[in-house]
Amino acid sequence: MHVRPLEGKTAFVTGGSRGIGAAIVRGLALQGATVTFTYVAAGGAADALVDDIRLAGGHAEAVRADSADAEGLAQAIDVAAAAHGRLDILVNNAGVITHGPVDDLPVEEFDRVFAINVRAVYAGTRAAAKHMGEGGSVITVGSIVADRSGFPGTAIYSASKGAIKSMTRGFARDLGPRGITVNNVQPGPIATDMNPAYVEELVLPLIPLGRMGRAEEVAALVAHLAGPEARFTTGASFTVDGGFMS
Ligand SMILES: NC(=O)c1ccc[n+]([C@@H]2O[C@H](COP(=O)([O-])OP(=O)(O)OC[C@H]3O[C@@H](n4cnc5c(N)ncnc54)[C@H](OP(=O)(O)O)[C@@H]3O)[C@@H](O)[C@H]2O)c1
Repeated sequence: MHVRPLEGKTAFVTGGSRGIGAAIVRGLALQGATVTFTYVAAGGAADALVDDIRLAGGHAEAVRADSADAEGLAQAIDVAAAAHGRLDILVNNAGVITHGPVDDLPVEEFDRVFAINVRAVYAGTRAAAKHMGEGGSVITVGSIVADRSGFPGTAIYSASKGAIKSMTRGFARDLGPRGITVNNVQPGPIATDMNPAYVEELVLPLIPLGRMGRAEEVAALVAHLAGPEARFTTGASFTVDGGFMS
């Protein structure tokens, strides 16, 4: 059993300033990785997270990079890999949700959500893979809505999470021969800013464990998939949902 299994590794996490991404950044850093993470709006929260991690003896830095800008994201990954001399772990976490029936949401909303939730996963993985070798890992944060929408008004968001689930399988085929694993973590309802109180009220009765998940409970699985115990695990999707899909 390794106490700091990610010691000496470098990681890049998209959307690390808040919620699940912040827990992932913290989890990887506490396990020894040097972590670069992106943010767009929450610069104050990003700085506070960097300070916290440094105080705890870890290494993290925040860079402003909008996942909607594929070229900018690829550049940020190149810069981080060059600065640290390597890249071992990419976590594609940044994502946005949208609600509304097909009669209401315009086609432009499809493009906006897909640019961040899907195109950036392709662009980021493409950029990161150039810097990775044997032992590299890519983890994408999908969602259980890839498998079951559950409620009306979720077509675009569900489709974006379905796309990254299949992309995970494709990437696993492309990168496996180079010793790089690629996996998809699908959270159920997690208590973050993404879920306002009315969503909690709607979903709570459907969760056998009777509570919302914590961001740390998703981050723990991400850290496992990035670590030495998961080297034969690739092309897979994992649910962390308190039994919501059961
Ligand atoms: N919460 C849930 O129940 C749940 C369930 C299933 C899946 N997920 C998925 O988990 C991931 C994280 O969700 P969350 O609940 O932690 O959301 P959140 O609390 O809304 O946080 C989203 C994070 O992503 C960043 N972000 C948003 N748009 C971005 C962009 N264009 N470029 C770069 N970063 C961007 C935000 O940074 P700034 O604020 O700095 O812009 C923030 O750090 C998403 O992919 C989401 O779809 C969440």
